[in-house]
Amino acid sequence: MQIPIPNVPQVPLLTTEQIAQFKRDGYLVLPAVLDPERCRQVRDDMWETITAYVPRMQRDDPSTWGPLTEEENKKLGAQLPEIGGEPYFNGKGHRFYIRNGAEQPLLDLAPRAVWQVAEQLLGKGTVVWPEGHDASGFTTGPCFMCDDTVGGLASHLGEAVKKYPEKGSFTTEADFRLPKTGPVWLNGQGTRGLYCTLPNSPAPGPNYQGAHSDGACYGRWRMQIAAYTDDLPANSGGFTVWPGSHARIWPEQWKAFNEGEKHTDKHLKVRKAGGYNDPEILRIKADTEPVDCYGPAGTVVLWHTKILHMAGQNQANDMIRQATIYGYLKTPEALPDELVADNSDGDIWRDWSDEVRQIDEQG
Ligand SMILES: [Fe+2]
Repeated sequence: MQIPIPNVPQVPLLTTEQIAQFKRDGYLVLPAVLDPERCRQVRDDMWETITAYVPRMQRDDPSTWGPLTEEENKKLGAQLPEIGGEPYFNGKGHRFYIRNGAEQPLLDLAPRAVWQVAEQLLGKGTVVWPEGHDASGFTTGPCFMCDDTVGGLASHLGEAVKKYPEKGSFTTEADFRLPKTGPVWLNGQGTRGLYCTLPNSPAPGPNYQGAHSDGACYGRWRMQIAAYTDDLPANSGGFTVWPGSHARIWPEQWKAFNEGEKHTDKHLKVRKAGGYNDPEILRIKADTEPVDCYGPAGTVVLWHTKILHMAGQNQANDMIRQATIYGYLKTPEALPDELVADNSDGDIWRDWSDEVRQIDEQG
């Protein structure tokens, strides 16, 4: 696979101290590293989209930014693209989504600007390039077809899912095609789009019910990013993480997988480590204080894909939490399927760069 050199300004490479911190905590906040002009453009585009879909919300009047009603949710949910995928704009209560993640402005803003850092951490020439969609509105990229992936297809493709496999093969399809508003994070071709939280969102409750670790341990994701396109003060819905949880969830999930448990095993009352109520997750919540990752527009949070996380509560009256999330995939050439579904040596940093592997996380 030919990996192009991104023609957007690059976020500076990380220092040894930053890499050590990332390894230890499982996340790292890089304040205001993205191009302010591109952030502004994405905000302007967001408001244009909001105006088209929910005209009652006015950009200059935060009192109009109330939660989406049932009726609005129903109407938005019915606007399905013909080629498959999710509605371009959808939302429920205090959350709304714009599925523009495979479009060039969002790709240039974040995944491509963080490209040299992604390669620094995961190894040069080993990361899937986010090309985005083609003229027909489809994206093409490698996809590891585990049961979780196939399950994700059903909830994000609408009717079009009938054309896709129903069961996981646990092998990679090299040129897997997905419509641009579909789950384009599965083939590495797009971000999740804009994930937004309206002001005064409800409290997560004492047990942080929504906290989770993304997907399964097996697969091609290693590092993900959350990027903020607007200022995000503290307690305004920032990406919330439990420091160090990556290093606890990783071995527990592999252990469970090796014992025959899949991430999709919903019939098990409690699984071992990945879900909302699994024992390891409960232990982490009991002994670790979560951290709210906030920062000015253009802030990027780098995170190990297994870290326990959730979107925080937006307690602001006049800010919309605006974030896009992208997961970098290891290429099939760099990480063959045998290794995707095997971590027998238990090494959490096995698939990362030599530089990362050599740095001691205790600093
Ligand atoms: Fe998540």
